[in-house]
Amino acid sequence: MRTIFWKDGVVLIDQTKLPEKLELITCKHVVELLDAIKRLAVRGAPALEVAGAYGVVLACIEKEFTRVDEMKSHLIKTFDLIVSTRPTAVNLSIGAKRALDAALKGGSIDEIIRLALQEAEKIAREDIDRNRKIGEYGSKILEDGDTVLTYCNAGRLATVDWGTALGVVRSAVNEGKKIRVIACETRPLNQGSRLTCWELIQDGIDVTLITDSTAAHVMKQGMVDKVIVGADRIVRDSVFNKIGTYMISIVAKEHGIPFYVAAPKTTFDWKKTSKEVIIEERSAEELVYCGEKLLAPKNVNVYNPAFDSTPLDNVTAIITEHGIIEPPYDVNVPKVLRI
Ligand code: MRU
Repeated sequence: MRTIFWKDGVVLIDQTKLPEKLELITCKHVVELLDAIKRLAVRGAPALEVAGAYGVVLACIEKEFTRVDEMKSHLIKTFDLIVSTRPTAVNLSIGAKRALDAALKGGSIDEIIRLALQEAEKIAREDIDRNRKIGEYGSKILEDGDTVLTYCNAGRLATVDWGTALGVVRSAVNEGKKIRVIACETRPLNQGSRLTCWELIQDGIDVTLITDSTAAHVMKQGMVDKVIVGADRIVRDSVFNKIGTYMISIVAKEHGIPFYVAAPKTTFDWKKTSKEVIIEERSAEELVYCGEKLLAPKNVNVYNPAFDSTPLDNVTAIITEHGIIEPPYDVNVPKVLRI
């Protein structure tokens, strides 16, 4: 099943309900989609790329327009709203911009709608294709019997289908290799325990859940052959991914365990360095409460960044749909990706 698709609106798996319930929701208005993005009902950089594009389509149809210029200025305003929901994953703005640029080429209201939807559907198809290619390239680094540690969720649920980091595992398993996954729970929103474990179990892939603080222990015990994670933005000096990824990379380096990043070309923002990237900060409630239950004093000071940056020095290779990129990245990234 696709994580996100268009059917009279944006249909998506509400990831806040997993693993208890597999529930689809349909967003018919931009404000509903913005809310879904902010509360992580749809999440993961590649899925956000498609969500951003579909958001522009929603903006085309949620109101009755009589004038093309009025419609186009509504689309431009909506683009800004979409991009401001989550600042770290570059894919969100890339998807929204592609749909907006396509729409702005239209000369009539019907043509604008058609062009925006056509572009959004194209991005969704491209995402599935590129994840399959990431999987094909990436499976070459996995040997039969390997145990892969992963962090957060860079699987089907973070993309339209197949996944990036978990796409690599899926492809290797499809080729007949026996691969075991260790999933870190990924506090505070538990994308690892709720989503990675759920989708791997759905596919019958061997997965073991650990607390985030068990990661160093399992690496020290020799229980991990490779680490593979996804990315929200890759800049000239580092990889932005879920908070805690940096820590995992340091431990992997300490124990001589290869640390791979799997991501599509659209996640690269190669003109920027880490200083120019905004790290999203999320609410104190995510740490202070578990549902209704208090996990900390209500009035405690909280710092809750959603992402961190891992220096490229800690990254063994980056698996993309154009091939596996090894250091030196300043030479090889532009060469392989033509950026
Ligand atoms: O806050 P999230 O759940 O959107 O964070 C997602 C991640 O950090 C993923 O690892 C990343 O987007 C890559 S998904 C293929």
